[in-house]
Order: sequence, then C-alpha cells, then structure tokens
Amino acid sequence: MYSRIIGTGSYLPANVVTNAELATRVDTSDEWIRSRTGICQRHLAAPDQTSSMLAAEAAQRAMTAAGVTPEQIGLVIVATSTPDFIFPSTACLLQARLGIKRSPAFDVQAVCSGFVYALDIADKFVRSGSCSHALVVGAEVFSRILDWNDRGTCVLFGDGAGAVVLAASDKPGIHASVLHADGSHAGILSTPGQIRGGKVTGDPFLRMDGQAVFKFAVRVLDEVGREALAICNMRPADVDWLIPHQANVRILEATAKKLGIDPSHVVITVDRHANTSAASIPLALDLAVRDGRIKPGQKILLEGVGGGFTWGAALVEM
Ligand code: UT7
Repeated sequence: MYSRIIGTGSYLPANVVTNAELATRVDTSDEWIRSRTGICQRHLAAPDQTSSMLAAEAAQRAMTAAGVTPEQIGLVIVATSTPDFIFPSTACLLQARLGIKRSPAFDVQAVCSGFVYALDIADKFVRSGSCSHALVVGAEVFSRILDWNDRGTCVLFGDGAGAVVLAASDKPGIHASVLHADGSHAGILSTPGQIRGGKVTGDPFLRMDGQAVFKFAVRVLDEVGREALAICNMRPADVDWLIPHQANVRILEATAKKLGIDPSHVVITVDRHANTSAASIPLALDLAVRDGRIKPGQKILLEGVGGGFTWGAALVEM
C-alpha cells in the first residue's frame, strides 16, 4: 500500500503589499529586498483572517480537485507555527469548518519544514491502512508575529495556505521521505515569547540571524535532497521539478546548483508570495499543478528547512 497526492489547492489573502509600500513604513527599498531575496511582493491576511480560515479555502480547493467529500477524509493535519489559538488545534478548527466528522485532527509544529513533516506523517497513516484519504495543509499568518519595525525580518514573510489530499494507492506516490531536526540551533531562528499569568512575557516577535540561517539552509537542502534521492535509487536528473521551501531566491538557486538541477526545473514563488513558512511548499506545488507545469507521472522533490532547526525532503510522483 502506498499514498498518492490526488488533489492540490491553495489560497492567498487578497491584500497584496509591494516592496515599495513597505519602504514607506520601514527603512528599506525595493532594490534592497529584490536583490537580496528576490521578493517583489507578499499577500497579507486581513485583521480578522486566521490560519484556519486560509486553510479552509486551500483545503476546499484541494478536495474539489481530488473529487473527495468530507465523509471520505480520515485524517486532518495542519502544519502551522501561527495557530488560531494555543488550543484547540488549527486542524480541529479546520475540521469543523469543512464539516469533517470524527477523523483524527492535529497540528504539526516544525516551522518552515512543517508541510514536509505533515506529509510524511500522513503518508504513514495511509500506508498503514489507518485511513484511505488524508488532508494535509500548511497554513500561516506570519504577519502576526513580525516586528514591523525590524527591517531585517518584516520584509521577508507573507501569509497563505496550501493543501493536498493523499489517497491510498497500489502505485507509489510518495517514493521517499526524510525528516531531521537539530535543536541545538534553536537560537538562530525563533519567536521566543511565552504566555504566563495571562500575559506574553519575553519577545513575542520572530527573530533571526539571517546569515547563519542562510548557510544552514543551503547545506541541509543539498544533503537532504541527496538522501531522499538515494533511498529511491534516483539521480538529480530524474527529478522533473524541485520545490524547495521558498525563503530567498538565492537559497533556491544555490540549492539547485549544488544538487545539479537546472534552474528551469525549480518552481519559484518567493518573488510573489515571499516566505509563507509551512504554506510555501504546498502553495508552490498547487501553482505549478494548476498552470500545467507539473503533469501526472512527473517526479517532484519537495524540500523544507526552518526553525528548530528542522529539515526534510520528500520524493513525490504525481
Ligand atoms: O524560512 C527560513 C527563514 N529565513 C531564511 O531562510 C532567510 C535566510 N537569510 C537570508 O535570506 C538573508 O540573510 C537576508 C535576506 C535575511 C539578509 O541578507 P544578507 O545579504 O545576509 O544581509 P545582511 O543581514 O548581512 O545585511 C546587510 C546590510 C546590513 O547593513 P550594514 O550592517 O551592512 O550597514 C543590514 O542592516 O543590509 C541591511 N539590511 C537592510 N537594508 C535595507 C537588513 N535588512 C534590510 C532591509 N532593507 N530590509
């Protein structure tokens, strides 16, 4: 028994904020943001829009594409670091929004690797026969945890959601999946605030050592991509599309170069979406499926890296 992706969906909030607009609020410029990151714009959620709302839009689209009903979904996983509440989980709130009854539902917190983590867990549920269909979503409103006075971080992120439906299959869809974490690097990317006595104590905003994260990301995205390929006896040339986590176009280009994958085979959305953390991979996947670049039977290498530190990869046949 294997699992396959049978439908994808995504959703971006309507409000598009360009670099030029950000430059009116913080000391930055379109030229700096474009040349250092490749980002031109980002979508930001409305004040009343939460991760479960973005997730519901993306999930509906994935379920429609897959042709499945809420009754068929036997597992709901949401990868998010910006949940609606401390509890209940965003997955439970999403389950209720979609009218799915009784399936297990839980969140995965692995920051920008969250979708790859959630996909691996869902694959194991489906392969073990626990359920026939699983809904896997990455949904984030990072705009809520950004310090809008810190130009080093606030220009880098956006909000959005992406989703896939996995179904049991006798042909392999997910050929290999590899996950890693190293908590000793927690300090280079974190949102360290805590809730105590009814108040947030400590720093509630995302903080990052950008250069340390950059170097770490380029190294592990190469290593983990090779690890996933080795498990299925494939070479980089066998990959039709590389979809790494979308944080910085320079990281995407360096990763493709190290892996020996031609830049024309990399799906890039960071220019329009900025970094949407756990949502970035399923957003990019859905975009390339819907614009016809990704075709049935093609092999896609998904790669995530993020706070924790966490990283992972999945080799997926569509
Ligand atoms: O999801 C994973 C999380 N994040 C990432 O993967 C991000 C990884 N890191 C990066 O993408 C890059 O390190 C950044 C884009 C964050 C920064 O690029 P950099 O080339 O490493 O720049 P830097 O941090 O070395 O800063 C260079 C200069 C500094 O000025 P001085 O000290 O040279 O005078 C910064 O103060 O650029 C300045 N700077 C800015 N200037 C204009 C930093 N942010 C900005 C800004 N606008 N937004």
